[in-house]
Amino acid sequence: MVKLNWKNKETKNISGSESHQILEDFLEVETFYLPSIYEDDISNDSWKNMLISGDNRLVLSQLMKDYNGKVKLIYIDPPFATGGDFHYKIFIGENKEKYNAMAYTDIWREGLESYLNFMHERLILMRDLLSNDGSIYVHLDWHVSHYIKIIMDEIFGSENFRNEIIWAYPAASAQTRKFYIRSFDSILYYTKSDKYTFNDDPNIYMEFSDRVKFALKKDDKGTFYYRGGSHDGKKLSQKVYVNQEGIFPRDVWTDIPYIRANTLEYQGFSTQKPERLLKRIILASSNENDLIADFFCGSGTAIAVAEKIKRRWIGSDISPHSIHMTQKRLLDLSNSNDLIKWKEKYGRNARPFKILKIGEKGRSGQIPHDFIIKNKKDLKSQTSFESPSFNIELIKKENSVKIKLNQYINPNFTILTKNIKKSLAKWQDWIDYWAIDFNYNGKIFNNMWVSYRTPKKRELSLVVSFNYDKSGDYQILVKVIDVLGIETIQNYELKIT
Ligand SMILES: C[S@@+](CC[C@H](N)C(=O)[O-])C[C@H]1O[C@@H](n2cnc3c(N)ncnc32)[C@H](O)[C@@H]1O
Repeated sequence: MVKLNWKNKETKNISGSESHQILEDFLEVETFYLPSIYEDDISNDSWKNMLISGDNRLVLSQLMKDYNGKVKLIYIDPPFATGGDFHYKIFIGENKEKYNAMAYTDIWREGLESYLNFMHERLILMRDLLSNDGSIYVHLDWHVSHYIKIIMDEIFGSENFRNEIIWAYPAASAQTRKFYIRSFDSILYYTKSDKYTFNDDPNIYMEFSDRVKFALKKDDKGTFYYRGGSHDGKKLSQKVYVNQEGIFPRDVWTDIPYIRANTLEYQGFSTQKPERLLKRIILASSNENDLIADFFCGSGTAIAVAEKIKRRWIGSDISPHSIHMTQKRLLDLSNSNDLIKWKEKYGRNARPFKILKIGEKGRSGQIPHDFIIKNKKDLKSQTSFESPSFNIELIKKENSVKIKLNQYINPNFTILTKNIKKSLAKWQDWIDYWAIDFNYNGKIFNNMWVSYRTPKKRELSLVVSFNYDKSGDYQILVKVIDVLGIETIQNYELKIT
């Protein structure tokens, strides 16, 4: 067997999960149970989908405890070792003013070896999480797909290699005349064994190529046919009917465009992948209610698709911004495209889910470096920034309460650049998201009511009313997340008699 070797290659974990050390526990921090949207959707199933904030090395080790051999499909779109930084857009206020902020860095200062070690140890853990009939898709490009393929052969067995899918995106930009323009990603598809799920579902079919479309004709009933050619080894001159509007997928996918800013699914995340790509993968390699995972979830594409086609899911990302973006994407799911009738909206809400945290990485954001005036740029650590505060008006009337967000003050305003300050003209412009737990249990923040902005929907509600069923002493927790991702929580007491 051919193996790839590199300096400091970690080999001791290759053989099995017993050596995976559980380093830290998950901390359940938030749940989403919005009575207004989940009223008729309380399932008996105690399972809750999970979005986990933290380094996926820790996430994978911890999941091993309960999910060893239980995940049906893993899709990952990790950093590609490009040597660059990747951005997401921060939108401010109602005018959709936008600025770039760093989402994640893909610079490997200790060289390719460190990248290969990073992937190698995570892929081993992922193999152990996969069920025996499970599949894994690893999304890469020319930078490292050739190395990772040899590593995948070693971890999953070359006999379990199924495809190298070429996703060729038509919108590649032409920045060079010195070599051919690079315009595809490679997705390595392996299974855990030779018994695996692969669904011949018409919803994964590729569109006919323009050449075939040109040759196809429709009869009076709208059914496609072509004439001539051969069918089952016989030459035909009669009409040959084709009973679907597409063909069984090849391994070169040319029918899925890259995300554009004018689409409904656009999240302003520079490496966001199209929902159509994930739709094909998830429909082909899993069934309803199967458990799907994406451990580098970014803007949450795989998670949103898994949710829409009724899979259970686990998503994780090391960046709090990604978790926040995915959370909002899920809350706004009903306004996204329906995956089957693409031109229509999905129209339903995501099922309740929870947010967990592991390791050091908190949920509070950091002020992007480019947003800070020159002489204050050395204020790198989060602790050098002052905490924001907000003001709430709380009006009690019998068994109901009205809560109004009145003011938000971020004392770091003075260190921001002129442009950013101009965009943050009113206090409301600071607010990206705010949520209320009307009955805080002292442990987990339950988002019972939320208002938030998305790239397309910029208005925010600043007032909400809530009715209590029972008398008692309640703790109300109000959380505000500003456009920089900085989270502030304030606590209020309320007595209902
Ligand atoms: C290419 S992006 C994923 C994009 C995603 N497929 C989408 O459609 O939006 C890679 C993501 O991996 C995350 N990431 C990088 N290192 C990580 C780690 N050690 N643990 C968890 N996430 C990580 C980054 O924060 C980034 O969001």
